[in-house]
Amino acid sequence: MEITVETRPFTTIETEALVTYVFEDNDPVQGRVAELDQACGGALRKLSSSGELTAKWLETTLVHFPAGLAPQRLLLIGAGKRDKFNVAQLRKLAGAALRYLKARKIARLAFLSWEADRNSASAQAITEGLLVAHFEPDKYKTEKKNGKEVEAGALAGWDATNRAEAEQGIERGRIVAESQNFTRELVNEPSNRLTPRILADRAAAMAREVGLATDVLDESRIEELKMGALLAVAQGSAEPPRVIVVTYTPPEVRPGAPVIGLVGKGVTFDTGGISIKPAEGMEKMKYDMAGGATMLGVMRALARLKPALKVIAVVPATENMPGGRAQKPGDVQVSLAGKTIEVLNTDAEGRLILADGLAYARRLGCTHLVDAATLTGAIVVALSNVNAGVFGSDAAFTERLLASARSAGEKMWQMPLDDEYREMIKSTIADIQNVSSGKGGGAITAAMFLKEFAGDAPWIHLDIAGTAWLDEAKPWAAKGGSGIAVRTLIDFVMNFPADAK
Ligand code: BES
Ligand code: MN
Ligand code: ZN
Repeated sequence: MEITVETRPFTTIETEALVTYVFEDNDPVQGRVAELDQACGGALRKLSSSGELTAKWLETTLVHFPAGLAPQRLLLIGAGKRDKFNVAQLRKLAGAALRYLKARKIARLAFLSWEADRNSASAQAITEGLLVAHFEPDKYKTEKKNGKEVEAGALAGWDATNRAEAEQGIERGRIVAESQNFTRELVNEPSNRLTPRILADRAAAMAREVGLATDVLDESRIEELKMGALLAVAQGSAEPPRVIVVTYTPPEVRPGAPVIGLVGKGVTFDTGGISIKPAEGMEKMKYDMAGGATMLGVMRALARLKPALKVIAVVPATENMPGGRAQKPGDVQVSLAGKTIEVLNTDAEGRLILADGLAYARRLGCTHLVDAATLTGAIVVALSNVNAGVFGSDAAFTERLLASARSAGEKMWQMPLDDEYREMIKSTIADIQNVSSGKGGGAITAAMFLKEFAGDAPWIHLDIAGTAWLDEAKPWAAKGGSGIAVRTLIDFVMNFPADAK
């Protein structure tokens, strides 16, 4: 889908649909909307008086062949209350408009934003909204159900004075949205079409395309390195594991500058292993590599946005299967960091592979760590599918991430990490055990386990088990992989000070 800037007056744009948004105030037809109302002979005023146009959040009003306007249709989207409106809502609203029009086989649209929303951040948000909404999980459909694609979206309302800002926003928005969609595409893949080896190939192909360095560790290198926790999970499967390392290096790196490590859980299918999961809903465990896919999507964007600091993604990838060689409850494993782990439940495999992923990121020189993982059902109990859980060892570092989540419009909520939770994963015979003994707090004890492997580096853990997959479509996004955290992490890295301690 092509996105361009339109500087002609909106009344004269020859497009299939002109889209704009109206606010739920005493009178939705006021200010600049009044101008639009006048241009189409008072049609909006009539709709508003009759009660059809209320401007409630995401209400849609479609006017066909509006008199006096060149566009064939006028689509009004309710924006809700003006004082609650922000760039995150603008993004969603643009996405909702696109999906509404796409379902009606409309191929060309123009999105008119109001004066307050004519800056590069708004243009970026609109672009992201349109492109993320355009994505469909129809890769394996031989007949594409949604028929015609939306071919062109124009950002309208701009002029010669702000055209450059619009173009910059469109360019960034495209990079971010396409990277988020890259992640979603991977998350949607079934496990037979995305084994650890295939995930590594897909990562390497992406890296080649955007100019990033990759190093894929195969099973023999993983063994040489003694990544015992990852190998323990992988040993139950016929598919060999991989550790995918993707590195972005800026043109100039100051010695002693921070290096960010992005570690993502890459379990391409989680049966639970010997502590096997119930059959019901098990098919969803193909998305247990969403954390890894998130980090790869972020790297794709960074390659193009070029931050001033070095970033290394580490994605340990494996299946968790109950094969004849599978690890068994009670087994003790020696991790890459040297710490011994008593595996009381083989279904708590994410933390095992991340233990080695985090330790390896440290070895590669990462000074700051962020991990993302579909780690626990307990985070879904705590936060449902609304917020991702955020855990952090360093207040300032964590606050930066939460600020990025707010500006990216992704919901995240901070969770606690008190020392008391560490007590709950003390093992009788090893350094640590991989699950706590049933006193609740499962998402926190899982985070506490990971913290042991971050060493003294500032570290953040994102538990995206509840948010990485949409069971139902949103007005602005198809069902399936959501690409949660991609936008937040891009913002986080782009705004991270290259001279931070
Ligand atoms: N991949 C799952 C967590 C998960 C649950 C992801 C629901 C997405 C949706 C993880 O490996 C797991 O099985 N966790 C166990 C841990 C338990 C055994 C301590 C869980 O949450 O039940
Ligand atoms: Mn599991
Ligand atoms: Zn898992």
